[in-house]
Order: sequence, then C-alpha cells, then structure tokens
Amino acid sequence: MPLGSDRKETTLRALDVVIIGGCGHVGLPLGLAFADRGLRVVLHDINPDAVDDVNAGRLPFAEPGALEVLHAVRASGTLRATTDPATVCDAETVVVVIGTPIDDHLNPDLGAVQQAIGDIAGYLVDGQLLVLRSTVYPGVTAMVEHLVANLGLDVDVAFCPERIAEGQAMRELYELPQIVASRSDRALERATKLFRNLAHEIVHLEPEEAELAKLFTNTWRYIKFATANQLYMMANDFGLDYERIRAAVTYHYPRAADLPGAGFTAGPCLFKDTMQLAAFNNNNFHLGQASMMINEGLPLYLVARLEQSFDLGELTIGILGMAFKAESDDIRSSLSYKLKRILRFKAARVITHDPYVTVDDDLVPLKQILDESDVLILATPHAAYRDFTTTKPVIDIWNLREQGVQA
Ligand SMILES: NC(=O)c1ccc[n+]([C@@H]2O[C@H](COP(=O)([O-])OP(=O)(O)OC[C@H]3O[C@@H](n4cnc5c(N)ncnc54)[C@H](O)[C@@H]3O)[C@@H](O)[C@H]2O)c1
Repeated sequence: MPLGSDRKETTLRALDVVIIGGCGHVGLPLGLAFADRGLRVVLHDINPDAVDDVNAGRLPFAEPGALEVLHAVRASGTLRATTDPATVCDAETVVVVIGTPIDDHLNPDLGAVQQAIGDIAGYLVDGQLLVLRSTVYPGVTAMVEHLVANLGLDVDVAFCPERIAEGQAMRELYELPQIVASRSDRALERATKLFRNLAHEIVHLEPEEAELAKLFTNTWRYIKFATANQLYMMANDFGLDYERIRAAVTYHYPRAADLPGAGFTAGPCLFKDTMQLAAFNNNNFHLGQASMMINEGLPLYLVARLEQSFDLGELTIGILGMAFKAESDDIRSSLSYKLKRILRFKAARVITHDPYVTVDDDLVPLKQILDESDVLILATPHAAYRDFTTTKPVIDIWNLREQGVQA
C-alpha cells in the first residue's frame, strides 16, 4: 500500500484506539489518558469482571487520579470496555499491553504476546497501526512484525514501551518522555503522532534498542535497590543503623544522592524484567542475578535475624502491609507473602493486615493485629503505619517510623 493511502480509510474508522489488555494496570491508565485527550478509545480485555467494573464506572484496582478521569470520559462517551475482540477492526490503532510474565524457570513466556496477537489476528485490517506496549524480551517486536506479515496484512508495527510506575500513572503518562520505535518511517510517524497526545517529548529508537532500553530501566532500579539492601544487611550485622549512615552519605553530596533506603523490592516488573535480561544474555548476568538473590533473600534475612532475638515458636508475628508497594492494593509478587510463608513455618502464629488489599481473605483489622501480635514487621511502608502507637517491637526496615527497631 503506498504511503498515505491508509489515511482516507482511517478517517472512516469508528475508533481511534483499541487497547488489548485494556483493563490492566497499564492498559487502563493509558486508555483513560487517551480518552481524556478526546480520542475514542475501547479497552479490550479477557477479564469480564474488570470490563464490567470499568463500564460501571469502577476501577478494578487502585490508581490515584484514575477514577475522576474514568467518570469524565464515560460522561463524554470517549471510553468503554469490552470482552469482544471484534472491536479491533474498528480502530485506527491497536495497542497491545498484556502481561508478559516469566515462567517457573525464570525464563520469559514468549508465547504471551504471540497468543494475544493470534487472538485478534482475524480482526486486524490493512492500514492499522499496531503498537506493542508490553515489556518484552528482545526480538519480540521483530516476531510481531513477522506474524503480521505472515497474515498477509499491511499493518504498521511500532514498539512503545510503558515506563509509568503504578500509583503515579495518571501523572507520569503526561510527564514522561515516550520512547517510540519502529523500522518503518510511516509507523514511526503515526506512533509519534499518537503519543504526542500525551507527551511533550518523544525519543526515537530502533525496536531492539527500545526493547533493551525498557529492560535496562527496570534492571537498573532493581540493582540499585539490591545495593541498598545489601548495605543495609551489612550495617545491621555490624550493629549499626543503615539509615543514619545513608543520611550522612547523601547529605549535600549529589554523587551519592540516589542511594535508596532498604526495603522489600517486589512487584510484577523489576524482578521479572531483570530475569528477562538474564535469559536474553544466555543466563550470564551476574549483577542481575546477584541482585535477585539479595532482594529475594531479604525476607529470609529478616526472619534469621529475628530468630536470634526471639523464640519465634512461642510468638504471634504480625505483618503490616501485604501490597508490594506503599499506598497500593497490588499484591503481585509481593515479598510480604514470602515473609508470611517463612514465618508460618517458624512462628506460633502469623497474622496480616493491609489497608488497601481487597483480594486476601486472611487479613485482620489493624486493632486486632496490634493487640494480638508479640512482634510486628512493617513489610509495606503504607503511610497508615507511620503513626500508630504500640508497646510491641516494630521491625521497620523501611525506616518509616521514628521509633521502629532494626531486625
Ligand atoms: N504494572 C506496571 O507498573 C507496569 C509498568 C510498566 C510496564 N509494565 C508492563 O506492562 C505489561 C502489562 O502489565 P500490567 O501490570 O498492566 O499487567 P496486568 O495483568 O495488570 O494487565 C494485563 C491485562 O491484560 C489482560 N489480558 C491478558 N491476555 C489478554 C488477551 N489475550 N487479550 C486481551 N486481554 C488480555 C488481562 O486480563 C489483564 O487485565 C507487562 O508487560 C508489564 O511488564 C507494567
């Protein structure tokens, strides 16, 4: 198809954007942001409950600022959700942002994107722009290009990785530069135009560069947190307070200002993407793998330290915070659950609390956990845990509370 011949076709399309995986943690904020800019958006998702939530004006998960936008775009009629993949053929742009997990062997599940494209293949039409937005193993964009070509379709393919952090999505979508990559000038131009609806700055890369850019972004954060966690354990084992040392290191010293505090480094992205990069490099990524051992080892370290001070077999341990990060209801890959599993084996009893999590029947009220625990572990630094009063020891690796104690 000659350059520009799709333009006439696209003006006839009923929708600007269909998002595959549109009711997930990335797809929904993105769809809301596009719809808020006046684009006609449909969110396609295989999760009927999430689709029902969105169409009823509810968020399937917590995301600050998103509910107001959802109400506004439903009122203006620019956004709806559906489980029907046939809606794909009505859109100028199809964005794919399904989950891209790793398997039991820490290898990327390369079939996830393939499966999702396969599911919509019958509804893709010539002239569309297909934007891959999931975080992918290097080479997946090329694989998608081949898939589309093998279907005999003239569809432009671009890779534009999402870089928001959960909880910050509705701000960062408008503030972060957007990485836009494609092998074709036309796709690059179309994807750039799409993301100009949100971002002031667009950064162009080749697809493979962009795939690595996204993995490097998350891996860099994972390694930084591992560094902090290792230094925390080192100081702690030496009987010293890591936070006092960190405060001195970073005080008016810009070269070390980004040394993070210690804490559980968890969630659906950083660990997974570091392991994707390791798999990509033939499992030869010592820094990433060492970071995984440190970050994933922190709950074990805490329990081992507690065993030195307490007879855990006699005690009720309370875990405060089950979400993987502060002010979130997301428990995916949360290290609080790893801690709970270890303690269930070692302690007389383990009870848990979280002010945001709704998908865990095992949680108890805050008053009960404070009353019944002998020792409390602050696993997630929700602001709600900053100020409660208790006479029980509170193990506070995050340094959230002034009167917390070290492990
Ligand atoms: N969560 C984050 O903070 C974040 C940030 C940046 C990038 N990412 C990346 O974005 C991608 C999505 O992550 P997420 O956290 O939104 O995952 P998620 O599980 O919250 O959302 C994925 C959605 O896709 C739906 N889905 C799965 N297969 C589908 C299919 N074949 N057709 C239609 N819908 C389908 C699921 O029902 C779900 O609602 C991943 O690659 C992730 O690494 C995530």
